[in-house]
Amino acid sequence: MSSSDNRRLSVALVDVNAGHEGEFLTLTTAFEAILIAKNYGRAEIIRDEAQPGRFYAVRHWTNAEAAELCHSDPDVQAITSKLYQISRITHVVNGVKKADPLRLLLDDRRARVEADRRTGFDRRMKNVGSPTGSDRRNGRDRRLGPRRLRDRPGEVDLVAAARRAREFADAAFSKFKVGAALETADGQIITGCNIENATYGLTICAERVAMFKALSEGHRAFTRIAIVADTEAPTPPCGACRQILWEFGGNLEILLGNLKEEKGTHHLKNLLPLPFDARLL
Ligand code: THU
Repeated sequence: MSSSDNRRLSVALVDVNAGHEGEFLTLTTAFEAILIAKNYGRAEIIRDEAQPGRFYAVRHWTNAEAAELCHSDPDVQAITSKLYQISRITHVVNGVKKADPLRLLLDDRRARVEADRRTGFDRRMKNVGSPTGSDRRNGRDRRLGPRRLRDRPGEVDLVAAARRAREFADAAFSKFKVGAALETADGQIITGCNIENATYGLTICAERVAMFKALSEGHRAFTRIAIVADTEAPTPPCGACRQILWEFGGNLEILLGNLKEEKGTHHLKNLLPLPFDARLL
């Protein structure tokens, strides 16, 4: 898409409640018809073959203004409010939001740097006998760096990231330091730690710090969260955190660990059975 092109794209992940697929497809067909009739753009629904009830709703907006008009259109709102009642919708790409030029620049730079680092890694693998010269870290294994690990889905050391985040915890009252590391769908890691204060009641847990940081930076889709405390028994998220993680992260994989080892993996739906969320409103 060239920079002079005004078209915008939005993508949402839709988890349809069991038994409502037919209704969902009828509503999305009506939605598509409005988009075309009013020249807002066009929409497509892609079924996730691996996960029953999961769809990707892709909307190609004519331009940003059309997208905004569509969102405030009462006919569209009538359909979307019905969709919210039968599904859980996670907005992954927001085509209406204006792109932040600084963010684009940073993302672009990071993409280029990482490609270079991978190329460099191949070179270093062959050049093992040379601790000096271009490798100024003198033998330190650069493969352990978080940026490289983040490139390989499933191999990111999320628990290690939570351990590092825990170092920043401000737990002057309970002395119970917790770290969390939340992984976004595009592989970024957003960390958090618990922050306590003199009123006690305004304490915020590591998990919610991580989630709110991520949301405030525009992330909307998440895969996993690691939680670390210095205890033998694993520290699972508290009730308030389970609720927030569910509403914004869905059925996240939850990795629990302490300073030495991993202590097990859970899925949020098992830690929060019969959840309350927007589907019930
Ligand atoms: N805490 C967390 O940060 N996450 C959890 O999963 C459990 C509890 C914090 C809150 C408070 O600062 C301290 O741990 C003791 O409850």
